[in-house]
Amino acid sequence: MISSDYLSDPIKYSELYIHDQVQNPQNFNAVIGEQDEMFLWELGQCHGNVEQARWRYFAIGKQLMESITSIVDWRWGNFSQVRKFLDFGCGYGRLTRFLINNLPPQRIWGADIQRDAVKFQVAYHAINGLISTSVPEEFKTEHRFDCIYVVSLFSHLPPHTFQRWLEVLYNLLDPSGILIMSTHSMSLLPPQDRNNNRGILFFPDSESRALDKNEYGATYVTEAFMRQVIKRVTGQSIFRCIKRGLCGWQDLYLISKSQARDMATYKPSIGPFGSFDGCKIDDDGRVSFWGWACELREKYSNCQVLLFRNGELMKCKLDRLDRPDVTQHIEDSNLVNPGWSFTARREQFKPDDVVMIKLVGQQGIETVIHLNAFQQMLQSFTQYQ
Ligand SMILES: C[S@@+](CC[C@H](N)C(=O)[O-])C[C@H]1O[C@@H](n2cnc3c(N)ncnc32)[C@H](O)[C@@H]1O
Repeated sequence: MISSDYLSDPIKYSELYIHDQVQNPQNFNAVIGEQDEMFLWELGQCHGNVEQARWRYFAIGKQLMESITSIVDWRWGNFSQVRKFLDFGCGYGRLTRFLINNLPPQRIWGADIQRDAVKFQVAYHAINGLISTSVPEEFKTEHRFDCIYVVSLFSHLPPHTFQRWLEVLYNLLDPSGILIMSTHSMSLLPPQDRNNNRGILFFPDSESRALDKNEYGATYVTEAFMRQVIKRVTGQSIFRCIKRGLCGWQDLYLISKSQARDMATYKPSIGPFGSFDGCKIDDDGRVSFWGWACELREKYSNCQVLLFRNGELMKCKLDRLDRPDVTQHIEDSNLVNPGWSFTARREQFKPDDVVMIKLVGQQGIETVIHLNAFQQMLQSFTQYQ
């Protein structure tokens, strides 16, 4: 519940978010590195609005944490059994600030090619730092890890380092360890841009200002390509692919070193995801908000969508709608009517009222998809009258 102390002017949306969504808000490190490219990307998406970019940055970090928690719970029961965790391509710690609440920083290693990112992580999160290299085989550490997490790095690697990095990281696993990595599926591209014959497509283009775009661009792969690469690296085709298992966008791959680990027993339980797509006021004074939402458990399904005004749950009309664009993207016939729309009276909102739209999954995992003042919300849409 958002307390009225936080509804100050100017509104600190990131504090509202932390207060509402983070387990121990008083212990949460909300410092973001100035050169953090994940934050700078959000800032661009939010047209320079720092507070909007901050809460969205934290919201992604929380979703990353939920994806790991679900895997760790399946594999080890809880974090206490994880002795050494490597976050490879850790950046400035979008995830780490959540991870250290569950795993002591002494058991976390963060590796990145950006020296300043590693320095920041060591200084602000007190984890162990490792500076990475552009040549995979030059990356050295004497440690072996129970869990290696590589989020949004293989989705940027060119074909000449893709398999080599997988090999290096796989060899850093403890014999009972597990490697979790994310990729962009080729199916995210328009059909005419796909190249299913080679199974990997690379574009020398990325959000990074610091890295060479030929070494760090945008990479799309098919599952068949991943199967071949995993077979070549591990000598076996044992892996699990969770389609759009990362924030509803990137595919997650689970690769286990031990053949004894039955990947089929993992049941994804990641938080709900979706989007707020628009709002408008009709001539008759009705205000409506709309978007889509779903969650992935064993299959995709609907989740709860809640609308809050200044922290209070609003009782207003919710309609479920067909969204062929979403169902086509999700490719799961189980998902029916992922669209949602709220309708209320305009008088129910004052311009400065803070509107929060929250998704709640079957296991109670929450995802905030919108947080802004009512007036600003309307101004962001051309339908504003
Ligand atoms: C898209 S960012 C993701 C950052 C972080 N995993 C997160 O989700 O917030 C990819 C990260 O990989 C890092 N990176 C790129 N090439 C690398 C390499 N050869 N070794 C280690 N890290 C690398 C980048 O510097 C960047 O921090």
